Amino acid sequence: MAGVPREQWTSKRGFVLAAIGSAVGLGNMWRFSYLAAENGGAAFVVLYLVATLIVGLPVLLAELVLGRGSQRSPIQALAHYGGSRWKPLGLIFVATGFLILSYYAVIAGWALRYGLVAIASGFDSDAAAHFGEVASGWDAFGYHVAFMALTVFVVVGGVSRGIERTSMVLMPLLFALVVGLAVYAATLDGASAGYAYYLGTDFSKLLSLNVVKDATGQAFFSLSLGMGAMLTFASYLGRDVDLPRASWIIAGADIAIAFIAGLVVFPMIFALDLSADVGASTVGALFITLPKAFAEMGSVGRGVGILFFAALIVGALTSAISLLEVVVSSAIDRFGWRRRQAGILLGVAITLLGAPSAWSTDILGAVDQVANNILLLGGGLALSIFVGWVMVGPIEEASAGTAGVSWFGSWRNLLRYAVPAFLLFVLVYDAIPSTFRTIANLF
Ligand code: TRP
Repeated sequence: MAGVPREQWTSKRGFVLAAIGSAVGLGNMWRFSYLAAENGGAAFVVLYLVATLIVGLPVLLAELVLGRGSQRSPIQALAHYGGSRWKPLGLIFVATGFLILSYYAVIAGWALRYGLVAIASGFDSDAAAHFGEVASGWDAFGYHVAFMALTVFVVVGGVSRGIERTSMVLMPLLFALVVGLAVYAATLDGASAGYAYYLGTDFSKLLSLNVVKDATGQAFFSLSLGMGAMLTFASYLGRDVDLPRASWIIAGADIAIAFIAGLVVFPMIFALDLSADVGASTVGALFITLPKAFAEMGSVGRGVGILFFAALIVGALTSAISLLEVVVSSAIDRFGWRRRQAGILLGVAITLLGAPSAWSTDILGAVDQVANNILLLGGGLALSIFVGWVMVGPIEEASAGTAGVSWFGSWRNLLRYAVPAFLLFVLVYDAIPSTFRTIANLF
């Protein structure tokens, strides 16, 4: 639809909140806490911090620069700076968005169900059995459909009237909920055992390649990197925005919420002496152990649990929106579809693609690994090479809207050498082999 001007954010603040909304989600609460539990607590937290600062932040700025500079969604943004031979990479990005949203919405559907059941009747004390009912089969598919419908509704509303407005309301709410829950958790007897587990554990894991890989994968997933989500959001920005500053704020808020979510999850689990359950299962840290804790806390637990799942649903929704927006905006740019048509059609397609993940948590886990370990890390590798070596004038684009040069010199060098070398190493030595092992185990 040539002639229709590109949509724009109404305010800088709206953009920043929407980007934080994309970053903060199930990754910060569900994924971060189970990975930290699996990988030796503090050791994982430290590596995740390092990975976010050294690898995540440069790639985030690279995406913002590509999006704002080109004013296009991923496929055309890459073609704009690199010629049409880079289009396949953009296509992979869009396909990755499809794939991630297909299972992300399944997990969000579990959260939706837990929240609604808690309001109606509280938490089931046999949490493992309850999780078994919720997590797979037609039930899981039904809530997955409901969550996808919510996501489509927001995206169809448009960039400023749908996505921006939703984020302006929901993100402050999410922040207040998570901080409030952490303060409450601190008052529980036995909380200190939870802090000890979370923040003071096995530092020998610092040297484990597997932990390094998980921390790097988590940094990418949590910052929504490696598939053009941040790129797409930045394509609705003007040149008056300070992108390096925005990337610090986004990364800082994302780390802060993940860290605070750990301060909610671990004290609650330890206060109720449920720590033995944590190591046992991966997805269980959140969807089995915590509801068990809420059930044991009686009526207070019900209220606290409702607030916890409200935070989870809010976080998941603002993230799912960004995943769908990549796909929708590409269809608008490429085929000239109307937003409404694109949102509904593609939303239905993604919902159907999620059916296998709704069917089995093993399939869901395998898809999660393929998406993270291979597609996002590989996408980050390609992005850093593209902006480091192929794109002309990235530093000029990054400087527009800033007061002056700060860390851009080292930024480009990071993208050229350190980031690709590190990602390649992680991919070859652990991410790819371990993903193939997971897939083989499915059969
Ligand atoms: N960052 C989100 C989370 O932590 C998930 C997410 C949203 C995402 N958009 C993405 C992950 C794009 C990878 C790529 O829950």
